[in-house]
Amino acid sequence: MNAEGRTGLDRMPEWTALGEHRRRLGDVQLRELFAEDPRRGERFALQVGDLHVDYSKHLVTDETLGLLRDLAAACGVAGLRDAMFRGEKINNTENRAVLHTALRVPLDTVIEVDGRNVVPAVHSVLNRMSVFAGHVRSGDWKGHTGRRIRTVVNIGIGGSDLGPAMAYESLRPFTDRNLDFRFVSNVDGADLHEALRDLDPAETLFVVSSKTFTTIETVTNATAARRWLVDGLGGDESAVAKHFVAVSTNAAEVAKFGIDTSNMFEFWDWVGGRYSYDSAIGLSLMIAIGPDHFREMLAGFHVVDEHFRTAPPERNVPLLMGLLGIWYGGFHDAQTHAVLPYSHYLSRFTAYLQQLDMESNGKSVDREGRPVAWQTGPVVWGTPGTNGQHAYYQLLHQGTKIVPADLIGFARPVDELGDLAGQHDLLMANLFAQGQALAFGRTAEEVAAEGVPADQVPHRTFPGNRPTTTILATELTPNVLGQLVALYEHKVFVQGAVWNIDSFDQWGVELGKVLAKRMEPVLTEGTGAEELDGSSAALVARYRALRGR
Ligand code: F6P
Repeated sequence: MNAEGRTGLDRMPEWTALGEHRRRLGDVQLRELFAEDPRRGERFALQVGDLHVDYSKHLVTDETLGLLRDLAAACGVAGLRDAMFRGEKINNTENRAVLHTALRVPLDTVIEVDGRNVVPAVHSVLNRMSVFAGHVRSGDWKGHTGRRIRTVVNIGIGGSDLGPAMAYESLRPFTDRNLDFRFVSNVDGADLHEALRDLDPAETLFVVSSKTFTTIETVTNATAARRWLVDGLGGDESAVAKHFVAVSTNAAEVAKFGIDTSNMFEFWDWVGGRYSYDSAIGLSLMIAIGPDHFREMLAGFHVVDEHFRTAPPERNVPLLMGLLGIWYGGFHDAQTHAVLPYSHYLSRFTAYLQQLDMESNGKSVDREGRPVAWQTGPVVWGTPGTNGQHAYYQLLHQGTKIVPADLIGFARPVDELGDLAGQHDLLMANLFAQGQALAFGRTAEEVAAEGVPADQVPHRTFPGNRPTTTILATELTPNVLGQLVALYEHKVFVQGAVWNIDSFDQWGVELGKVLAKRMEPVLTEGTGAEELDGSSAALVARYRALRGR
């Protein structure tokens, strides 16, 4: 570290050493690496909790991994990690602690922020959530007209939507099937309309989830939902008390909105929105899966937290996964990273990770505010296999871009599912086959030997050498979901630490919010159009004309 902050990554000897190593490796082939070391598949695999993580199909050698760990050490990843777990204010642009890990520690743990132990409050909110969730699940919580709740509608956006929505989908078999759950996020009225159109207000509970309680989409949707509810219950405003609860850090705004703060579940500014679904933001999830399953999920998070905090670098899975991403972004010019779950229940998992990763690491200045001269966060994308195989895998196999990918699968289908026609083995056969095809491809000689006409051989050749990590767990349970999410949280942390960016702010979302606020009266009133740029002014004029204004 020099007086102005950390030395630029690209000027660190460990970075230069990796660059030289990359040149020496050239276009080393996975076929060669596996031929040289028949035990590579076992050697290049780690276990964390229930997750078996195979990283043998990466373009790395033992030397690569050693050099990457040297880089992490030189960048002070372990020191920053420890500071995070201790509750230090490592989110320096907002001067906040980063303590999502405190949401899942046992009650006897002590973690202090500004000299106060935060753990008792975490457990007290969890207990209140458990009581409330229990009442809704049992039918003891009655709506305004005395009927029990049948549908829970979560209104929130970003971290206040993606986490609970993803986890609800992931854990469907663990949910109370007598209750219905819907997640509304988009300010497009269609979202709320479609969620409410077949519901009975007397049996509907709204969970308004917003860290700040000032997010325009959420406040607008919640206002519309309140109107729908009150109108549907004969215009009696007092109905709100039995049909609206809030999850927020901002009691004043909750009260201003008209929700009694005794119906508010609290969390704290040291929980980032995209790291928050294991806080009270998970209330609708807890109602769905029940408090016990929710706590099992928290325990799963904690397993990986402890692993990340204590495992030595050679066996530290989030560290390894973070470093592999740095290897591809920094030394292979990879721009994107695909997350491909072979589980239909994980259909929202990659969307959730998009916010976790891209809002955290989509930065271009370092912690000292200097422009970075190296790649930061990748574009994260993907959908569940095997659907993706019949859509975009063509590019993964034969395109001109390198797309490192994570393949996630489970040994057993969840109990409830049954396996009427052997679908699960077929699903997993596809996962393993894709990893194989991506890594080893098919050479022109192999294609020709199959009798393929010469002019078709290039089209049917697969270059291989496309790197994947395979994450294999026994079954998708609440505990395992917690482990998976924590794994990615810490992977993102590692990358931000190496890139020397603040992974915990999100200033990049602000400009659009400010401009939208300014734009709205231009659309509705036609005032201020003269201040717009030429393109926007023309578009707004056309829009207003089409609206008959
Ligand atoms: O605009 C981005 C963001 O601030 C996210 O970081 C956050 O998860 C989302 O908006 C929702 O914010 P809130 O929970 O305060 O409504």
